[in-house]
Amino acid sequence: MDKFVIYGGSPLQGTASISGSKNASLPLMAAALLAPGIHRLQNVPSLRDVRTMAHLLRIIGARVDFIDRTLTIDSRDCSFYEAPYELVKTMRASVYVLGPLLARFGQAKVSLPGGCAWGPRPVDLHIMGMQRLGAEVELEGGYIIARAAKLRGAKISFPTPSVGATGNIMMAAALAEGVTIIENAACEPEIVALAQFINDMGGRVSGAATDRIEIEGVKELSPIQFSNIPDRIEAGTFLCAAALSGGDVTFENLRTDHIGVVLNALESAGFVLDVTETSVRIRSDRPAKPVDIKTAPYPGFPTDMQAQWIALMSLSEGSAAITDTIYTDRFTHVAELRRLGADIRLEGNMALVRGVDHLQGAPVMSTDLRASASLIMAGMAARGRTDLSRVYHIDRGYEQIENKLNALGAKIQREDEPM
Ligand code: UD1
Repeated sequence: MDKFVIYGGSPLQGTASISGSKNASLPLMAAALLAPGIHRLQNVPSLRDVRTMAHLLRIIGARVDFIDRTLTIDSRDCSFYEAPYELVKTMRASVYVLGPLLARFGQAKVSLPGGCAWGPRPVDLHIMGMQRLGAEVELEGGYIIARAAKLRGAKISFPTPSVGATGNIMMAAALAEGVTIIENAACEPEIVALAQFINDMGGRVSGAATDRIEIEGVKELSPIQFSNIPDRIEAGTFLCAAALSGGDVTFENLRTDHIGVVLNALESAGFVLDVTETSVRIRSDRPAKPVDIKTAPYPGFPTDMQAQWIALMSLSEGSAAITDTIYTDRFTHVAELRRLGADIRLEGNMALVRGVDHLQGAPVMSTDLRASASLIMAGMAARGRTDLSRVYHIDRGYEQIENKLNALGAKIQREDEPM
């Protein structure tokens, strides 16, 4: 297992490019199952989660090549309609194949994902949506077993907007008979990218980016070439890292319209931003002003940026309250940040962060993807050496993070950690 050895204290300087979005790539890859043929997906980040999804598609029978951030998916000879437990347990987003498999084969067997480090993460809305489209769904032996001779369009109203369930239903409904309407749909940019992908294949999806999405089913879809959107969470993470380090960095190849809420929060925290459509320069020469945030579905503050915001506030000039309304238990990073000297108190789903004068390096442990990002940020800002173990979490979702940050002046070494 790898660990990072981080020597803190260097302000980040220079220019870096933002990678393609992890959370958009995964449903796009699954959607390639809807149209038998050879698809090309560009700007796909080289990440463990992408390789896990590629592995799953290969199990289903697709041929997948991944060269220079272009994925070629040949989905012609697919015949196996199962997502096994061994894969789904390592990546929850595997559940994205449920809709496409059901639409293409009339049946699907997908392992239930189970919980994750910060608590239960149900898939009841995915299942409810498939049932509304006419599928019979049973839960047996830890698997979702879904069958439908023919999927039929329906009106589906979510009690809470779910990115995964919205995407899954959109994919299933793309080949259903008739019109499907999703109410209280997720509005995330990853959903907009998926709608675009389906439409480019010949589908009829309208209303993506609003909370009411309409999908008119078509008889068949055709394979395409598609360019993935930039990763808004990587962009937000790196901006916070640059801010915390006291640096001056320009990030390129991003969509600033996707991170408006994070940019506003950084401005409120006193950082100077120069923003174009596709780039942001951030300058930081003083500690952050405290800024409270509350996570919310897009366009609200992303839960995937909550840990990084806590890290940023840990050196602020006052006290900030950070509330997670999406995943109320998602605070495993708090205890680790405290090991670095952060002053954080948890009250239910709210972290009260009192800025301290400095952080001090210490051994800490990654507990999940975004928690790891917050610990790298804190380690880079801390005095002395921080050893961050279990960095396999970070490799799931950040492409060559140590190389990118080291190119900006960070001092992070990847080392083998004896078990
Ligand atoms: C996606 C992102 C993840 C992010 C999350 C919230 C991917 C691969 N992952 O996850 O990084 O943290 O959005 O922005 O894109 N819920 C239910 N029942 C369901 C599904 C969801 O109750 O069937 C609840 C969840 O517990 C959560 C909320 O809905 O409270 C939103 O979850 P959802 O948007 O589905 O998250 P994911 O798509 O799994």
